[in-house]
Amino acid sequence: MTQRKGIILAGGTGSRLFPITGAVSKQLMPIYDKPMIYFPLSVLMLAGIREIAVITTPGDRAQFERLLGDGSQWGLEMTYIGQPSPDGLAQAYLLAEDFLAGAPSVMVLGDNIFFGHGLPELLAAADARTTGGTVFGYRVADPQRYGVVAMDGDGTVTGIVEKPAEPPSNYAVTGLYFLDASASERARTITPSARGELEITSLLQTYLDEGSLSVQQMGRGYAWLDTGTHASLLDAGNFVRTLQSRQGLQAGCPEEIAYEQGWIDSAQLNSLADRYSKTEYGAYLKRLLKEG
Ligand code: TTP
Repeated sequence: MTQRKGIILAGGTGSRLFPITGAVSKQLMPIYDKPMIYFPLSVLMLAGIREIAVITTPGDRAQFERLLGDGSQWGLEMTYIGQPSPDGLAQAYLLAEDFLAGAPSVMVLGDNIFFGHGLPELLAAADARTTGGTVFGYRVADPQRYGVVAMDGDGTVTGIVEKPAEPPSNYAVTGLYFLDASASERARTITPSARGELEITSLLQTYLDEGSLSVQQMGRGYAWLDTGTHASLLDAGNFVRTLQSRQGLQAGCPEEIAYEQGWIDSAQLNSLADRYSKTEYGAYLKRLLKEG
């Protein structure tokens, strides 16, 4: 199988975070001690993905490039793609068609934070399904705000409904999509919704219709955090701060994952740590080196 490639969808307007997103992209906002995009990036890295495209608004692109560069510092290959207007999540597969070049993909939304024991195994299982797609259902208190999984009596998924007034279940589809090589071709067949967007639910429906979409549960032992509003952004930052200070371990640390994956060696990690010598983040990277 062709190696799966990664997409981080980091465009959008971030209008629910105005005025803080008036000049800076939402996905560059801090989640306590690091930029938001480090978290979805870390998920792709944990899935073993090294070729990654970041889709941003054309205006924000330069800042993402400044932050992440060509990815080589973490053993990655980063590509940047502009999305002229936020015409929907499924549009990513059209914009990234050349980048994907017939490879299967995993797309993560740039404002989604996942945390939980066993995440690498969950990702590996999804990666191993070479045809069709895999998405993750997560129980939420307010399903009206999400794409929601509809199931029949025996738990078979029958559909995904976008922001339903009367949700068929409490299971929201998270912003993490493993799709096979046919995703871009399928994206060309769907039409914009009433709100004028190429909806990811329409794209997923094409897989569902063929019985080739696997909807995995991401259980209550996981955190799937929202960062789209002022309160949820602060909550996510507090969550990360609490976790990190209690455990003495970092969440969403690309240097650590790159080192663990063997994509960078200890000399490279050391020089990255030197850049952050004034922070706990830098001290953490030094500790990783010492503790092996
Ligand atoms: P949303 O949260 O739906 O939209 P938004 O980020 O623009 O925020 P707001 O509702 O406050 O205006 O988007 C989910 C994620 O997908 C987020 O990371 C932005 C991204 N996105 C794009 O990159 N392009 C798009 O066309 C859309 C709709 C979203």
